Amino acid sequence: MSEAASPERTTELTADVAVRIGDVRLTARQGQRLIELCDTHITPLHFCCRAGSCGTCLMRVLEGADNLSPITDNEEILLPELTEDPDARLACQVRILGPINVVPLD
Ligand code: FES
Repeated sequence: MSEAASPERTTELTADVAVRIGDVRLTARQGQRLIELCDTHITPLHFCCRAGSCGTCLMRVLEGADNLSPITDNEEILLPELTEDPDARLACQVRILGPINVVPLD
């Protein structure tokens, strides 16, 4: 039997994960971009450039930092200019890999 046809593999690819953005609780598809989730729900996160260059979507990760995709090159450049908060990320740059709890950063 081919591993690609395994039901377990299919389940893994379509797993739902819990996402908390401030007081808003949502469910995301594992691997979904956070910005896509925010495009279809009202959340306290805001976006402008949507490309990691303006800082509008700056957020603090309260829980689940390891459940986000790795820091992008754009974040490596912009985050140090915006904040000294070690838990900061740019919401437009991340994919959701597991449960997360985030809040906007001013
Ligand atoms: S929306 Fe501009 S950096 Fe994320």
